[in-house]
Amino acid sequence: LAPKPLRGKKLLITAGPTFEPIDPVRGISNHSSGKMGFAIARAAAEAGAEVTLVAGPVHLPTPRGVQRIDVQSAQQMFDAVLPLAAHQHAFIATAAVADWRPAQTHEHKLKKAEGGATAPTLAMAENPDILAAVARLPQPPYCVGFAAESEKLAEHADAKRRRKGIPLIVANLGPATFGRDDNALLLIDEQGQRELPRADKLSLARELIQELSQRL
Ligand code: C5P
Repeated sequence: LAPKPLRGKKLLITAGPTFEPIDPVRGISNHSSGKMGFAIARAAAEAGAEVTLVAGPVHLPTPRGVQRIDVQSAQQMFDAVLPLAAHQHAFIATAAVADWRPAQTHEHKLKKAEGGATAPTLAMAENPDILAAVARLPQPPYCVGFAAESEKLAEHADAKRRRKGIPLIVANLGPATFGRDDNALLLIDEQGQRELPRADKLSLARELIQELSQRL
């Protein structure tokens, strides 16, 4: 029988992009596929954890045994995550949350003006940082963040780990992993670094879950 190192543990995971509406037919999003987060949810459930997956708009099947909550915007993701977070053993934030949203969502579709009037300007507002907010709870779950950096990967990722006040950050060892089935990861904590060499995302997810189970 497969070992279940996370039996009795509750894990909350965010995955995918967020979608920030401009009007009823338009919005701002990004190319996150959700594959890494969904693989982690699957690996955690295989390891016996009780898994809740808060997913932005993605086209992926729900892993077996995982409770899924679908959301669109960063604010909706925040509203879904925060009430659950205090009751978890771990929180893994893989979602590519939009940093900004249109300050105003128009109720009706924006129309192109007649006679060549100027294009509209979008005022933006900052979204809440979900991971940082969970890490600031009085009794936070064990928080794991993800970082995609274009340079000085380890240095920038570790700075992000400290800034967000989390024990573990996982850096994507490029090239860009959006939509791919494989990835390579660098785990960074207070003690140092450990590389998980390039492999398919499910294998990496299982290794990450092994690491996590030793820390819970
Ligand atoms: O600051 P940055 O967006 O690079 O941090 C990435 C990490 O923070 C990821 O784990 C991501 O899921 C999380 N995050 C979040 N809420 C945000 C922005 C990022 O949970 N608004």
